[in-house]
Amino acid sequence: MLTVRTVSDLRAAVGGWKRAGERVAFVPTMGNLHAGHFSLVALARRQADRVVASVFVNPTQFGPNEDFERYPRTPDADAVGLADAGCDLLLLPSVEQMYPFGPERCVRVRVPGLSDVLDGAHRPGHFDGVATVVLRLLNMVQPDVAVFGRKDFQQVRVIEYLVRDLSLPVSILAAETQREPDGLALSSRNQYLSAEERARAPEIHRTLQFVREAAQRRVPLAEIEAEAHRRLAAAGFEVDYVALRRADDLAPAASLDDGGVVALVAARLGRTRLIDNLLL
Ligand code: PAF
Repeated sequence: MLTVRTVSDLRAAVGGWKRAGERVAFVPTMGNLHAGHFSLVALARRQADRVVASVFVNPTQFGPNEDFERYPRTPDADAVGLADAGCDLLLLPSVEQMYPFGPERCVRVRVPGLSDVLDGAHRPGHFDGVATVVLRLLNMVQPDVAVFGRKDFQQVRVIEYLVRDLSLPVSILAAETQREPDGLALSSRNQYLSAEERARAPEIHRTLQFVREAAQRRVPLAEIEAEAHRRLAAAGFEVDYVALRRADDLAPAASLDDGGVVALVAARLGRTRLIDNLLL
């Protein structure tokens, strides 16, 4: 696996592959990679001749009181894992490569509507930072396909909108959420949990399964949301939201027949904020 740190080295490698007629898939990450990320690389591998991954902890998507400083950084283990997973090129850009004028003075993009609800309402500016860095990364790598995890359901919708609205020549693929045997969605932030919090964390997945089962029994969606909120609070979570939304545009779902419906949860255990979702 080749490791590059600059846009010019990246373009030299990817340009060579493209001229040889090879198809390129891209997996953007913030590092501290786990089996969830490696499943994205595996999906990318099946889509293309070459796989590029990036590791960049993006400062513009963290709020002032969020975990940017303490976000786990494990570059050596990430490189070993990516090579084992079949990645051809690892992009490790510096902040200066990503934001030549600095993160404060960078050109930003904003996806209206989708960026303001759910996680966007609880993390103001978060999706502007995501859209801004993903547009930069896609422009640098110029892949044929880019792969994201469905655990970040809203992020996938924001990126799909960005790609469609700006006619970016890339297909976006969403990969299934990878879970621990007890149902907890894999996340780099799981390691912030104490042993006692870790034991309670799978209640999010259990609650989502309750939501799916209740929706199939045709319990009114507002009642399901209220009961799911109550269950999570009883298990010791501070709940940001439990929401049943239309899967295509994240607007409130009127009923289970309102196109595809997705249940989304964001809740805190102590200092750790967890998100998860389930298509109903
Ligand atoms: O999902 C992530 O890890 C990040 O939000 C992404 C897409 C790599 C942008 O920084």
